[in-house]
Amino acid sequence: MGALCKKCRERAQIKLPRHNASFCQKHFKEYFFKQVEKAIKKEKMISPGERVLIAVSGGKDSLVLWDVLRELGYRADGLYVNLGIGDYSDRSEETCIRFASSRSANLYTISLPAFTGGAGIREISRKVRRKACAACGMIKRYLFNRFSWEMGYGVAATGHNLDDEAATLLGNLIGWKEDYLSRQAPVMPSNHPRMVRKVKPLFRVTEKETAACAVMSGIGYIYEECPLARGARSTVYKNTLNYLEQHSPGAKQQLFYNFLQKGRPGFLQKREDVQLQSCSRCGQPTATETCAVCQMLEKIGAPPLSLSEGGAVKQKAGEALAP
Ligand code: AMP
Ligand code: FES
Ligand code: ZN
Ligand code: ZN
Repeated sequence: MGALCKKCRERAQIKLPRHNASFCQKHFKEYFFKQVEKAIKKEKMISPGERVLIAVSGGKDSLVLWDVLRELGYRADGLYVNLGIGDYSDRSEETCIRFASSRSANLYTISLPAFTGGAGIREISRKVRRKACAACGMIKRYLFNRFSWEMGYGVAATGHNLDDEAATLLGNLIGWKEDYLSRQAPVMPSNHPRMVRKVKPLFRVTEKETAACAVMSGIGYIYEECPLARGARSTVYKNTLNYLEQHSPGAKQQLFYNFLQKGRPGFLQKREDVQLQSCSRCGQPTATETCAVCQMLEKIGAPPLSLSEGGAVKQKAGEALAP
């Protein structure tokens, strides 16, 4: 006989060995929503009534996050950044637009090539001699923060889940990157007037669970991985943790939760606080005189980025977007 739902004893749709539980569809969604709500409340991620901007990639995690937050009653809008990675970016953008339309949700889209004279991540990383993922991560973080701040959002959320966080942690531990370890947290408070708080409300749920939630909620998402990220080391860490989890259910969450509770405070104490200043070109927070993104744009001969020019920001679906 198949497993039964822990709550209602109907036939279970999903097994969660780390919680020693199985759930039917209804009770799995209830479990999932509770985990997200618990993350938000316990970590004080979003205040009641506060507007939150969700960075959506078209993948399952960020679309599920957006959907769940809206269902939970949060005022959540979406932001998609088209990174100019050929058809992959266009397909991801279409996926986000389709989702936003289906929910009458507010989605902004930004196009990186519109700011760089047509260059996408591939071309930029080649010109600045950095790995694509490193350049991409830097540009995405910059745009999330700058856009959220310019549009008056106090908090921005990403779809990072437990698998993402545990894999990043494992990598940082192997390299003993004390600075990164001190920064890895579900909430990063603002430490500059132009910096918005960053939150990761999915840090208590796994990739498998968000995939199940996406299917159960009828969310169409893009399955493809970014073509530039193939062979990324994070995949090796994720596979390693999945192997461990298979043999020792709960290992992944134990690693990450124990780190947050017992490990991170030590790294935080050791951290030297760098006083952030405002970039001399764009005003965004930076530890150097000119921020890394402005330096990159300078290297590729692009002008300083202005979100209000060139029709680079578009607005899709939903009602009025004024803050
Ligand atoms: P990744 O680094 O691709 O695993 O993405 C982590 C999170 O960053 C996602 O869950 C999204 O919240 C956000 N994100 C990634 N790519 C984009 C994008 N192109 N536009 C907006 N948000 C994104
Ligand atoms: Fe950033 Fe692929 S999404 S390099
Ligand atoms: Zn049930
Ligand atoms: Zn700058």
